[in-house]
Amino acid sequence: MKKITKICCIGAGYVGGPTMSVIAKKCPHIQVTVVDINHDRIAQWNDSNLDNLPIYEPGLKEIVAETRNKNLFFSTEVDKAIDEADVVFISVNTPTKTYGKGKGQAADLKFIELCARNIAKVAKTDKIVVEKSTLPVRTAGAIKNILDNTGNGVNFEILSNPEFLAEGTAIQDLLHADRVLIGGDETPSGQKAKNLLSEVYENWLPKDRILQTNVWSSELSKLVANAFLAQRVSSINSISALCEKTDANVEEVARAIGYDSRIGYKFLNSSVGFGGSCFQKDILNLVYISQSLGLQEVADYWEQVIIMNDYQKRRFADNIISTLYNTVSGKKIIFYGWAFKKDTNDTRESAAIYVADALLEERAELTVYDPQVKEQTVFRDLDYLNTRTPEENKNLVKVVKDPLANIENAHAIAILTEWDEFKTYDWQKIYDKMLKPAFLFDGRRLLDKEKMERIGFNYYRIGQV
Ligand code: NAD
Ligand code: UDX
Repeated sequence: MKKITKICCIGAGYVGGPTMSVIAKKCPHIQVTVVDINHDRIAQWNDSNLDNLPIYEPGLKEIVAETRNKNLFFSTEVDKAIDEADVVFISVNTPTKTYGKGKGQAADLKFIELCARNIAKVAKTDKIVVEKSTLPVRTAGAIKNILDNTGNGVNFEILSNPEFLAEGTAIQDLLHADRVLIGGDETPSGQKAKNLLSEVYENWLPKDRILQTNVWSSELSKLVANAFLAQRVSSINSISALCEKTDANVEEVARAIGYDSRIGYKFLNSSVGFGGSCFQKDILNLVYISQSLGLQEVADYWEQVIIMNDYQKRRFADNIISTLYNTVSGKKIIFYGWAFKKDTNDTRESAAIYVADALLEERAELTVYDPQVKEQTVFRDLDYLNTRTPEENKNLVKVVKDPLANIENAHAIAILTEWDEFKTYDWQKIYDKMLKPAFLFDGRRLLDKEKMERIGFNYYRIGQV
């Protein structure tokens, strides 16, 4: 196996795009080609106007501007890129299954299998195949099985190299990764492949941050890392409910426990509930694997993290309804934020979708403003739930491009995403335009409570009365 000079990445999504951009930036000697079957997505990656990239991530467009068409290429020619590459990253989506065995829990691996079969069909030279997607433990076995049965004499080494970037901070996370994890066979050729991939990352990361493990530990560690992170959010959110009943303040509790270096202060921000494409999907997968292996208690333990998250979203919606005198029917409620967190246009599993759905069931009239989310995405998210017809959603929901566009006579505002710009608004002006009493429900603890109360708002925030 020779040094890596050509990389192909299958999947130009939230992981493939930013990860390969950073590799291209830091490794000018490597040619990186990102391929996807989605022609529109590739066209957006190649758009001369960098504001039209398919993904919004701070710092991304600058890197794409620097590297694109030099050593970073976006293409729909999947076979050609596989054929030419020394290393093929698989970075396609692995959503929760919506059909058949494991429906609603197991990861749907059909896209992964398609990639493996495609690589098997096309490859004429030895290749390192890297699982970048998050996969159930032991998936590498299935990929190896497909690749090793092609009969074309090509040698494949399968590595697991899960991605730990978080959206909104993807570029910084990639440039300054806490660690890179590389799992592979403990054979001489497996070790060689791990070292070759490690050398790519050593172009910008210290070697001691690149961990090597066996392939199963690597696959499992990714699911476990997300489960532990989500568990922290659900833990503090469970305490937020307790704080609201006891006059304690969840932020003070988080600070008090976070000072204990064994607990640590990160990831203890109480919220309307975690969202994103990863946490729920990966925990459900962990639950499914545990169940399949007869470990029901383990499955129940992790499932509780999701139950608590659903409770938090429902609790926030219920509080809006009960505070607005037990009826929101025909009332105008403004949503600030739709993305699952700030600094991204991604809305997958965003808490906003479920809070909106609960309020729409009570016939509320919603106006949604998010600085990065498009109107069509909001309606796609709501229509996907199938709770109402698309026409009903259209009648009840308005998506605006200006935060003040429909504020006149609004009954309430709910903050669903922690965008920094919300803090800078002229809240007095907003208050003046609203119906009185004016209600403000802060699902992100973003605003200054005293200031909002001084203006006159009836201000409610998660985890503090
Ligand atoms: P995504 O949906 O944004 O992108 C996946 C892309 O793969 C899509 O553009 C799709 O068209 C393409 N694709 C699917 N099948 C293909 C095929 N056969 N050939 C070519 N292209 C194909 O997904 P994502 O958010 O980038 O996630 C990818 C993987 O990374 C998932 O397993 C996810 O769990 C994991 N992950 C995601 C994040 C995150 O923050 N989004 C972080 C870490 C890990
Ligand atoms: C997560 C992991 O952090 C990342 O390592 C992994 O690779 C992919 O999944 P991501 O989902 O992009 O990343 O964002 P993250 O910052 O983890 O936030 C997830 C959700 O939890 C968001 O909805 C966020 O608002 C919420 N959250 C996070 C809280 O409510 N409180 C916190 O303290 C932290």
